Amino acid sequence: MPALGSPPGSPTGDAAETDPLSRFRLDGRVVMVAGGGGAIGSAMGSAFAGVGATVVVVDRTPERAAESADRACALGGTCKGVVADLTQEADADRIVSETIDAYGRLDVIVNAVGGGAGKVLFDAEAYPRDAWDWIYELNVRSTLVATQPAVRAMIAGGRGGRVLNISSVRATLGINAGYSAYVAAKGAISSLTRQWATEWAKHGITVNAIAPTFVDTPQVAMLLGDPSFKAGIVNRIPIGRVGTTDDLTGAAIFLCSDAAGFITGQILGIDGGLTATQ
Ligand SMILES: NC(=O)c1ccc[n+]([C@@H]2O[C@H](COP(=O)([O-])OP(=O)(O)OC[C@H]3O[C@@H](n4cnc5c(N)ncnc54)[C@H](O)[C@@H]3O)[C@@H](O)[C@H]2O)c1
Repeated sequence: MPALGSPPGSPTGDAAETDPLSRFRLDGRVVMVAGGGGAIGSAMGSAFAGVGATVVVVDRTPERAAESADRACALGGTCKGVVADLTQEADADRIVSETIDAYGRLDVIVNAVGGGAGKVLFDAEAYPRDAWDWIYELNVRSTLVATQPAVRAMIAGGRGGRVLNISSVRATLGINAGYSAYVAAKGAISSLTRQWATEWAKHGITVNAIAPTFVDTPQVAMLLGDPSFKAGIVNRIPIGRVGTTDDLTGAAIFLCSDAAGFITGQILGIDGGLTATQ
């Protein structure tokens, strides 16, 4: 029997016994990275290409989509950059059906559109509604809009699948720095991860999230550029540093592989031990 969510003919049984690492590879699988032109999404696309997947990099910024797809392709395999606004249903429907037309299947969606917290820091008692709505559009709506047609395609394909969301330690930890909308949005992502896991298990689709602390990326460069802010963060992290995009990719590959076929509805902290101290 294939592992939960794995396509028939996947490397289980004899193949997995002779080469246990084959269960961590994604040869023959098609992975869509939403927000794949961003810092974390781009690292994800390259990592998935490196373990044999066909990678569709989706971003609303054309140059980012193209550059990330090129970087992923340099590691071998097939990659394509696609432009779409993933807050728009028509765009999301289009790229999923183009993917099925081109490759015949969709096995994994990684939702890496999001962020924005550092751009809209306001006191909680006066948090502006337009900033709140923007953060929700960027983080929650984009995840919902991208995932729905992707999962419909996985269900129609009958081969199971994988959804990987990106939450944050902010889903569980408050921070006294004007983050109301972001913590609420990431809390919604974590809750949706658990809800979707319960609904889509019957289709062989697992749904998990990673929850990083600060990752050294352009999104948070301004915040981390303030030495006292950075020291305050790093001093609370037992491993003594912020994350890197490379810290995230191994977990992403694992959670989207056959090796994680019995793991669903989980939010994996990637935070150097930060949440362990709370
Ligand atoms: N950077 C961090 O420290 C950190 C920490 C924890 C969680 N995260 C989360 O990781 C995810 C990725 O963060 P990042 O640092 O890579 O951000 P990023 O800004 O580098 O990447 C986001 C990408 O999404 C694209 N995008 C934005 N709106 C879009 C839309 N409507 N349609 C299609 N593409 C769109 C952008 O063009 C960009 O390329 C976010 O959800 C963020 O909240 C980041």
